[in-house]
Amino acid sequence: MPESDYERQTRRAYRDRYKAAEYRRQHTDQLTWARFATAREKRGVAALLRLCDLGPQEIILDIPCGTGVLAETLAEFPFRVVAADISREMMRLAVYAYKKGQCRGFVQADITCPPFKNDAYGCVVVLGFMHRVPPLIRAESLRALCRLTERFLILSYSLDSPAQRFKRRMVRFANQCHRFAPYPLKREELRREVHREGLAIRKIMPVVPMLSSEVLLLLEKIPS
Ligand SMILES: C[S@@+](CC[C@H](N)C(=O)[O-])C[C@H]1O[C@@H](n2cnc3c(N)ncnc32)[C@H](O)[C@@H]1O
Repeated sequence: MPESDYERQTRRAYRDRYKAAEYRRQHTDQLTWARFATAREKRGVAALLRLCDLGPQEIILDIPCGTGVLAETLAEFPFRVVAADISREMMRLAVYAYKKGQCRGFVQADITCPPFKNDAYGCVVVLGFMHRVPPLIRAESLRALCRLTERFLILSYSLDSPAQRFKRRMVRFANQCHRFAPYPLKREELRREVHREGLAIRKIMPVVPMLSSEVLLLLEKIPS
């Protein structure tokens, strides 16, 4: 996918109320793989957040928050939340998802140049984004997010491996319309990208072992 397709298929794609409504339906109402995978992601994020042990004085950033898929999970914790996304249409559906009193507000923001102060958050959570964007945007986003967090980052990525490539071929054979994460990356590339930003990998967790290429990472800033 050339760079400009990122603009069309990710950055602008969700700025449409029909697309936003369809996204929410697929992830919350229908019996879909996306819904199952999202439920697993949420459990994984909760487990990683428990490791961070963030107190009520901390604020975490949920970006891109989309339709608020993560709100229910975040409501289990004492910290406060800021939710951000480039799409107002997606955020409009997220407004009632977050726990009242916990959510400090919604901000329309581009993840590659977010309008927040350095070290403003105890943790930044990024789901469903890194596997959709080309390497340059992914690197730019990670750099920007690293600046925002005082300590932790939780991100989802899609890993490329021989087993996953074999699975893709099989699925494509059965269903030619199936759409895969356009930008999976090899484990070594992922390590390199993360270390380049001065981050340490505290935990890597598969979302659905064997069946999905998606992994959750808990990263921590290494003090300089
Ligand atoms: C696949 S959805 C994931 C949303 C949510 N994290 C989830 O797991 O349901 C991708 C989201 O990224 C947002 N997005 C795309 N490009 C963005 C950018 N440059 N900055 C911020 N958000 C962006 C879209 O508006 C959309 O809400």
